[in-house]
Amino acid sequence: MLHTLRRHPREWSPTAWFIVVGGLLLGGVLVALGVQPPGVLSPSNAQLVAEPDISQNLDVNYPILHIENIDAQLKAFAEKQTDKFTRTIKDKRSDPRNKLTLSYTIPHFGEETISVVFTATKEMIDKKPVMTHYRLVFDVASGKKLAFGDLFNDTNGVRQVLADILYDYFSVNQEMHLSSAQQIDLLNFELSDVRDFLVYEDSIVLYCNPANLAKKAASKSVQIQKTVIHPLLKDSYSQNDVGRKLDALPEGVDFAIAALPARHTPNANSGKKIALTFDDGPSEYTPQLLDALARYRSKATFYVLGHLAQPYAGHLQRMVKEGHEIGNHTWLHPNLTLLNGEQIDQQVGDTQRAIQQATGGYTPRTLRPPYGAVDAEVVEKARANELEIVMWNVDPNDWQVKDSQTIHDHIMSAVASGQVILLHDIYGSSVDAAIRIIPELLKQGYQLVTVSDL
Ligand code: NI
Repeated sequence: MLHTLRRHPREWSPTAWFIVVGGLLLGGVLVALGVQPPGVLSPSNAQLVAEPDISQNLDVNYPILHIENIDAQLKAFAEKQTDKFTRTIKDKRSDPRNKLTLSYTIPHFGEETISVVFTATKEMIDKKPVMTHYRLVFDVASGKKLAFGDLFNDTNGVRQVLADILYDYFSVNQEMHLSSAQQIDLLNFELSDVRDFLVYEDSIVLYCNPANLAKKAASKSVQIQKTVIHPLLKDSYSQNDVGRKLDALPEGVDFAIAALPARHTPNANSGKKIALTFDDGPSEYTPQLLDALARYRSKATFYVLGHLAQPYAGHLQRMVKEGHEIGNHTWLHPNLTLLNGEQIDQQVGDTQRAIQQATGGYTPRTLRPPYGAVDAEVVEKARANELEIVMWNVDPNDWQVKDSQTIHDHIMSAVASGQVILLHDIYGSSVDAAIRIIPELLKQGYQLVTVSDL
């Protein structure tokens, strides 16, 4: 075996254990009284000692926290780093200038979590020295090493909140020098963009590259107070994980966020507006579209068919809740110019009532006649039902081509401010195209609004 363990002089005697057990009992009493325990367990230091032929190349230290599960993982981490370095220097072991130094700090030692930062410095005669931080967070109760998502009871909810925080904070933060396209990318933040994290008594620090700046900049550290994301944290991770502050953070943080920033609408002041409209639905594809619109803080208009309002009442309610416009597209999609006045009234009026019922009172203000077919009687009946007729400027023929790339290319080559784009949310290809064009239109400076806000 390559490694043996040399215990630090702070190795505990049976007497010390007696004090610790007593201390644990006392600590429990103090916690119950709301008093912070006066250091129940003290970490001690261990050093990996290698075989003589490699020992001069290593100064590898790791903590012993006296929590069995966690200690095994910390030792395994130190051994893994050591083995990797040993293999790297192979036959150059005789030169003590090839050296791995592994040190650590424990910036948080709480009742719920423990955060350990290892700093590895690799010095090699033929290379520049490299210093790397490794951040490990453990759950005290289970001893499990935590992934970032493990902290939350709603990972999709926390994705949205973190995207919002990063967008609202960084889009106004001049220090980051982000282009408007990079700012829009912040809204596309995923939990997998968190490369590393630490948990503290009352905050969480993320290490991420918030605008895909990988080629230009290293990760930024963003400290977010737990109070800001508290409803999303699991019950086992509270707002105030009391414990001992053992060491300062080795690097500090780049940005500190103590409250939710104000929410900004992308391109609100650009003066360039587009209205995306979706006819003939809703359908099973509509929720994905609503997700994308929510992610990019954009609005759209849905010209729904009356007979689909009740079956898809949940989708309609979500549209209203998230600020979209619902329009009237008749009950069964007839060519209204072929109907008599009574039949037109029925197609339009029944749809108004079905939408009102499904949404709990939302009343459409605009009508899109199927096929765009309009005559004097249709205009008159729309006016009688207090509906404004809305057509479109850009028609990619999505119902016919059913190819998301072609639909996407048609729209992107035709867009201009003030236009109304016609799509159908009953085809997967149309919804896929829409999900792609939403961030692209935002990056071109357009604000996506409802037809009534155009
Ligand atoms: Ni239609």
